Amino acid sequence: MSIIAAGGAGAALTSLTGGDEVKANELTTEEQAATVIPAARAFAGQHSPKPLPFDPAKLKGLSEKLLKSHWENNYSGAVKALNVVEQRLASMLTEKDLPPYLYGDVKREELVRTGSVVLHENYFANLGGDGKASGKALDLIKQWFGSYEQWEAEFKKTANALGGGSGWTILSYNLHTGEVHNYWAWDHMHNAPLGYPLLVLDMYEHAYHMDYGAAAAKYVDAFMQNVNWDEVNRRVEEMRVRK
Ligand SMILES: [Fe+2]
Repeated sequence: MSIIAAGGAGAALTSLTGGDEVKANELTTEEQAATVIPAARAFAGQHSPKPLPFDPAKLKGLSEKLLKSHWENNYSGAVKALNVVEQRLASMLTEKDLPPYLYGDVKREELVRTGSVVLHENYFANLGGDGKASGKALDLIKQWFGSYEQWEAEFKKTANALGGGSGWTILSYNLHTGEVHNYWAWDHMHNAPLGYPLLVLDMYEHAYHMDYGAAAAKYVDAFMQNVNWDEVNRRVEEMRVRK
C-alpha cells in the first residue's frame, strides 16, 4: 500500500502512486504514520545531478580539473547526501521513541544539502559566458548600484570578505522588499529570505584552491570573466514573472 495524503478525521487517504484508498478511521495514528510517510514525494530522495552546462575545458582562468572536481565531489556529493537525508527522515518518522533533537539534526542536514544543491546549480549555470554584462540585468544593476563598475566593486568586496573561509556571494532580487543587493552568505543555509538569486558565486575554498591556493581574489577575477550574462538575464525575466 502506498499512501501520501491525509485529510481530517474520517477523511479518505488517497494514494498518488498506486490508486489505493483507505478510510483514515480504519487506521490508528501510528498506522497512518507508518503508511503515509514512506510514499510521500517530500521524502523520495530521487534527485539527480544536472550536467555541467558548458565545456569545462574552455573557461578562462578556471581549470578543467578544478571544475570537474567541484562538480563531481562537491555538487554531486550534495545531491547524493540530500537523497540520503530525505530517505532517512522518512524512516525516522516511523521510529518509536526517537529523541526530537536527533530528528532536528537530520532536518538541519536537509536545509544544508538543499542549499548546497540549489546554489551549486545556480553557480554552474551562470558560468560559461564571456563576462560582458548586458540587457535587463545590466539595467537593474545600474538602477540599484549607479554603474556596473560600482556594482562589480561591491560584489567583489563581498566575495573577498569570504576568502579563506566558506560561503556564497549572491546578486539577488528580493521578492519581499523589491530591492537588489549583493548578499553575503556564510554557508549553504544563508540566503536573504525571499532573495531570488540572479548571479551566484561559490566562495568555498573547494571552488578555487586547486587553481589559486589561498589567492581568493584572483579566483573572483577569473569568475567575473566567465559570467554567463544570458543566464542572468533569463533569471531577471523569470523573476519578473514570479514577483
Ligand atoms: Fe561548491
